[in-house]
Amino acid sequence: MTNMRDWLKSVVYLSNNYISLIGVILVTAATVLWMGFLPITMRGGTMHPYFGIAVFLLLPGVFILGLLLIPIGIWWNRRTRRAKGLMPAEFPQLDAKNPELRRLVAFIGVTSVLNVILASQFAYSAVNYMDSVSFCGQTCHTVMQPEFTAHQRSPHSRVECVSCHIGPGASWFVKSKLSGAGQLFAVMFNTYPRPIPQPVRNLRPARETCETCHWPQKFDEDRLRDIPTFGDDEQNTETHTVLMLHLGGGANRVGIHGRHLGQGVVVRYYASDDKRETIPWVEYTAGGKTSIYAAKDAKLDPAKIRVMDCIDCHNRPTHIYDLPERAMDKAMVAGDVSPALPFAKKQGVTILKQTFAGRDEATVQIPKAFEDYYKTNFPTVYAQHADDVKRSANTVRDIYLGNVFPAMNVTWGTYNNNLGHTDSIGCFRCHDESHNTADGKSITQDCSACHNLLVNGEKSPKILVDLGLEQAPPEPKKPEPKKDEKKKK
Ligand code: HEC
Ligand code: HEC
Ligand code: HEC
Ligand code: HEC
Ligand code: HEC
Repeated sequence: MTNMRDWLKSVVYLSNNYISLIGVILVTAATVLWMGFLPITMRGGTMHPYFGIAVFLLLPGVFILGLLLIPIGIWWNRRTRRAKGLMPAEFPQLDAKNPELRRLVAFIGVTSVLNVILASQFAYSAVNYMDSVSFCGQTCHTVMQPEFTAHQRSPHSRVECVSCHIGPGASWFVKSKLSGAGQLFAVMFNTYPRPIPQPVRNLRPARETCETCHWPQKFDEDRLRDIPTFGDDEQNTETHTVLMLHLGGGANRVGIHGRHLGQGVVVRYYASDDKRETIPWVEYTAGGKTSIYAAKDAKLDPAKIRVMDCIDCHNRPTHIYDLPERAMDKAMVAGDVSPALPFAKKQGVTILKQTFAGRDEATVQIPKAFEDYYKTNFPTVYAQHADDVKRSANTVRDIYLGNVFPAMNVTWGTYNNNLGHTDSIGCFRCHDESHNTADGKSITQDCSACHNLLVNGEKSPKILVDLGLEQAPPEPKKPEPKKDEKKKK
């Protein structure tokens, strides 16, 4: 007992040195921070991988370093005191009068209070920041720039990156933590692939993430889709394609959602390429019955069979890139590129398809090229509508900047969209009539299985007029009498 007390006395006396005190600061800071993060770590919900690195690697490291510094300081202090002959014969008693003890207690007290104040503030804002979209999208700026930019203009721009990329639950949390560490090194050593390849391999099964917000089993109605397109002619003639999409869902396994994801439905497939574009083998189970649809000479690697989920169709729910034509159509519907400017569509697409040295050059060259076109070819239009031309020119530039990222080798069409079959093969990877069962049944390509094509490229189609979505086309030519009528009034 006396030995113990003597030992403590010496520790208290000798720990009054800078090295040990720094150790004390580190230990208390790490402890307080760790406790500050505890509510989030316990929650086990979505968390950014780098935050995990901080909590699970960095903080314990700091804690241990602090713990080591305390005895090192004591040892050092004792050595120097011994060498200088400054070791007291008897260490002061451990009571309220002991100045070293008082100083040590005061020091620990003050640093703890300061740590609590500083660390709790820090923990709070660090967690908020790291969960945020800007951390994911902008910290590694070039790497994530395409995804971040596309996310900003998507229907999911208010959904944080971690909600889809990590999702809740412990096992994915750890997986993402590990891949997060790998990504950190890839960025540090500049070894990441450009572009980042799709599909994402370690993405959590989409049904677990997407279905925290969506419930496609519930969609059981059809959905009208109007796809306006502008022509290459001088008037940029607008035509419409109108589809009635059989979205489906519900318990009765109908429609697009119901037939692949309805109750008791499981679609498994094997893709022979890394991009999952060539699919020679599909297995369909519904209502306890299983059929296998295979292309001719299909070879199968059972280890690579995948269960179909949301992202086999919705592979671009938020990182949506457009092709030049479609991007121009959208901008012209919105009026950001004025459809009144002659050949606006054609000219915009032509400029967008040119190659530029980089984003900086494109930022300057694109608006200039667009404006120059009107200055040279339509000087009167330019003189009367200079503002329209400028606004449209800037939109064309923004379309480019939103889709082309030379530093990441991302350009038009790098990332294809599987939700359809016109811009890329999409649904027709399976629905091509050349996947057959042994008894000759095939996965249908019947147009009306997925949608009724109500209108295929018409001006002011009657159905949209009836629904009040389009204005009736102007009356067939009778301009002269109309003028007279006005005059009469
Ligand atoms: C609505 C869900 C969702 C959100 C929100 C989301 N992502 Fe994605 N992300 C996906 C899906 C789905 C893929 C593609 C998966 C596939 O093709 O395998 C993907 C792919 C990626 C890729 C791989 C490259 C590519 O484009 O396929 C990166 C990098 C990426 N996301 C980063 C981010 C960042 C950064 C954010 C936040 C700014 C974010 N994601 C937000 C769902 C999401
Ligand atoms: C945190 C919630 C959340 C998660 C997770 C989420 N979404 Fe969404 N999603 C939304 C919201 C909110 C909207 C509606 C946006 C609007 O209408 O403006 C939406 C819209 C959509 C739309 C309609 C887009 C359109 O063009 O109107 C699709 C398709 C979609 N989500 C698919 C997915 C898929 C696939 C996933 C999983 C990879 C996913 N979502 C994950 C919240 C979420
Ligand atoms: C077989 C392909 C396919 C699968 C699998 C699929 N979807 Fe869809 N989904 C579609 C198509 C096609 C549309 C219609 C797109 C459009 O309107 O342009 C759609 C539309 C949606 C919409 C928008 C509905 C609306 O009313 O606007 C949401 C949300 C959605 N899907 C969520 C999901 C989720 C979540 C999953 C996974 C559980 C999923 N989808 C699986 C093909 C699919
Ligand atoms: C991985 C392969 C695969 C992909 C990709 C795929 N499907 Fe399917 N789809 C199937 C299979 C298999 C069936 C069921 C065939 C059967 O009835 O036995 C099916 C059935 C359907 C049906 C029901 C057809 C009918 O005859 O009633 C619709 C509708 C459908 N799919 C829409 C889509 C749409 C839309 C897409 C793209 C967004 C798509 N599918 C992509 C495999 C696929
Ligand atoms: C397996 C389901 C499926 C089949 C079969 C199918 N389509 Fe489609 N189609 C789709 C989906 C999904 C879209 C995309 C809707 C969207 O853009 O949201 C689409 C879009 C279209 C579009 C609009 C293209 C655009 O400009 O965006 C046209 C036109 C079209 N389909 C015609 C056809 C014709 C003609 C057939 C018959 C040979 C056919 N489709 C068969 C699922 C299908």
